[in-house]
Amino acid sequence: MGKAVEFVKINKYFPGVHVLKDISFSVEEGEVHALLGENGAGKSTLLNILHGVYTKYEGEVKLHGQKVNFKNPNDAILNGKISKVHQETMVVEELTVGQNVTLGYEPKKGVFVDFGKMNREVDAILQELNCNFKSSDLVSTLTAGGKQMLAIAKALYHHSTIISLDEPTASLTLKETEALFEVVKKLKKNGVTILYVSHRLEEIFQICDRATIMRDGEYIQTLNVKETTREELIHAMVGRSVSAVASRLKPSPKTDEVVLKVENLTDGHHFRDVNFELHKGEILGFFGLVGAGRTEIMRTIIGADRKIGGKIFLKGKEVTGNWNTTKALKAGIGLLPEDRKTQGFMKQFTNYDNIAISSLEKNLTAGFLDQGKKLKNAEYFFEELDVHPRKPDYLTVNMSGGNQQKVILARWMSTDVDVIIFDEPTKGVDVAAKAEIYRLMEELVEEGKSLIVVSSELPEAMGLSDRLLVMSEGRITAELTVREEYNSDTILDYAIGGNEE
Ligand SMILES: Nc1ncnc2c1ncn2[C@@H]1O[C@H](COP(=O)(O)OP(=O)(O)OP(=O)(O)O)[C@@H](O)[C@H]1O
Ligand SMILES: [Mg+2]
Repeated sequence: MGKAVEFVKINKYFPGVHVLKDISFSVEEGEVHALLGENGAGKSTLLNILHGVYTKYEGEVKLHGQKVNFKNPNDAILNGKISKVHQETMVVEELTVGQNVTLGYEPKKGVFVDFGKMNREVDAILQELNCNFKSSDLVSTLTAGGKQMLAIAKALYHHSTIISLDEPTASLTLKETEALFEVVKKLKKNGVTILYVSHRLEEIFQICDRATIMRDGEYIQTLNVKETTREELIHAMVGRSVSAVASRLKPSPKTDEVVLKVENLTDGHHFRDVNFELHKGEILGFFGLVGAGRTEIMRTIIGADRKIGGKIFLKGKEVTGNWNTTKALKAGIGLLPEDRKTQGFMKQFTNYDNIAISSLEKNLTAGFLDQGKKLKNAEYFFEELDVHPRKPDYLTVNMSGGNQQKVILARWMSTDVDVIIFDEPTKGVDVAAKAEIYRLMEELVEEGKSLIVVSSELPEAMGLSDRLLVMSEGRITAELTVREEYNSDTILDYAIGGNEE
């Protein structure tokens, strides 16, 4: 078999940073090839070069032995038969699936779009992918997993022989992830070459043949997945040994004082009859599968969404009237949102300003905004969370996905609020940084803050929580108080609750 992709001495610069340094390696035809590395290692940048998103770089990209230089991603799809599926797939919500898949290349009858033919062709592809939706369905009705399948369908419509998946499973349910893996295996059988980026190492062992590891923009090595271990992969990525399992190192400072109490909370749609208490100094875990209703509960608690029934008590006082996020912040409760792209930070702000948004009072000296304090705070978190590049004056939007997440974490970790809700705090974050985040959370509770951590990763929920609430389909199905009660099979059973088989 030949080489599907060859990178030869690729160098890439952004203003002030050298992000890819002499990268050379190749991907065999028909293999599933993982691209691994810490946040900011350069994985997405390399894929963007491959797919024609970035046209300015040094070095050569060869597809099937031929040098290419695509003008844009469309050029890459049409002339290189190479497609990229990323986490936030671009779709036009108002159009049908078929219109999205064929966008710009619709089958025509004369000058008119031939919708009959469009739907027949697209439905055939969707069937091949085992999708439970049709070409004529509106995209707005699809789940995150459905949209990802749509992107793959589009790649197949254009007969792509190379497909890249950049953190495809970050927002998928268990079932959707399994469906995606089935599709990857099928594509591979049909000779399609797959490049796969994920921070979930267990996935690498499930579907990848080989893995290339990058560190700080440099090529480190390419390994045969079957002949390697999780520890070896982590060591190659980070350059040292790191414990990849979430765990508490310090005793819990949990007290009996109730800081937040929720009674029979219902929003009439995503969750109902939710009851729980959060104690001062506690880390309360909320485990469930994607779509269980946890995000909606948290948004309702901080006043971002409306409830239709039930009560919320903050530090003993019932929340009444026109509750909203501004009032919530003032009252001492904040939420780090799951959706970092649209809710997490200001696009036009630097890291330095984004980190300071929720802690303006902390940065006042005699009533004036103290820029020095602001910068010092940002630098502290940059050091603690190992943010790359170590530049507080960089625009957050230009950071890698995982590093953006770290900036948002820093913002919430430096607030004055004493009840902090973290919704999927380590989404897209590499293994080494995860451990640092857990340490910082321990420091927060030690300072007397109280945390809720919503997580879809079981090892994280189990390793971090003092107490764990499990949700399934909008209801709390279990409360586990003693660590010894934690058993991953039981917890998964409670989370599945007959929802997914
Ligand atoms: N448009 C840009 N302008 C300036 N710097 C950028 C830009 N895009 C990426 N970078 C920088 O390039 C480096 C590599 O980023 P990249 O997104 O490739 O990392 P990654 O390996 O995909 O990380 P992650 O796991 O967090 O997604 C980072 O330091 C990032 O800040
Ligand atoms: Mg990336």
